[in-house]
Amino acid sequence: MIICKSPAEIEKLRRSGRVVRETLEELRELARTGVTTLELERYVEKRLRERGAKPAFKGYRGYPCCLCASVNEQIIHGIPSERKLREGDILGLDLGAVVDGFYGDSALTVPVGEVSEPLRKLLRVTEEALELAIQKAQSGNRVGDISAAIQQHAEKNSFSVVREFVGHGIGRELHEDPQVPNFGNAGHGPVLKEGMVLAIETMVNSGGPATQVLADHWTAVTRDGSASAHFEHMVAITRNGPDVLTRL
Ligand code: MF3
Ligand code: CO
Repeated sequence: MIICKSPAEIEKLRRSGRVVRETLEELRELARTGVTTLELERYVEKRLRERGAKPAFKGYRGYPCCLCASVNEQIIHGIPSERKLREGDILGLDLGAVVDGFYGDSALTVPVGEVSEPLRKLLRVTEEALELAIQKAQSGNRVGDISAAIQQHAEKNSFSVVREFVGHGIGRELHEDPQVPNFGNAGHGPVLKEGMVLAIETMVNSGGPATQVLADHWTAVTRDGSASAHFEHMVAITRNGPDVLTRL
């Protein structure tokens, strides 16, 4: 069942979305060579508290942290650790927060120092796929229109999309219906209606699509060890078109 939000509820989601995105943008600057992902976690924990927000991921199905920090071949759900970032890494940062009972969720992938051209292209294409997907988030379109836009853009650039993890509706719960896959066919799936709010998450691998979850039960990696990128925005379907709630 897809829960449609009132304009007042969308404004609450915009507040939580803003807290998440502001914190993520701060991390973009902090993600430097030699910094550990656990240092980023501690920073986030403090900044969410200062902003009057509660972490959304910590304790969710037993996840131990506020932040997901996924390096190189890690696709999503990397657990912050003493691992030091190195020049040339790419770092996926995914953050969720609750403000006044409503969830915010957003992600981006950043270069650490100077990064190779193939990795820069991966970041660019994955973010472009998200922007193309957002343009499809219009009343009367279907979820498959979003999915197909992501898959086509990734594959046109000879990358592949992840099948095992998907975007989602969001509101008073972190994960609501509908699921928003990164693959599929235009014209298929649930019809989009005014008031729906979707967390669209593009997950693109530079090699094959196959994934694997590490022994820590969380970290999702590419099976072939190829690099992967992840971007996520929350988007409300409105009469005036897509309204990105995690854009500052
Ligand atoms: N953005 C991801 C999601 O919506 C992050 C979830 S991490 C978890 O599923 F720990 F909360 F599962
Ligand atoms: Co999400």
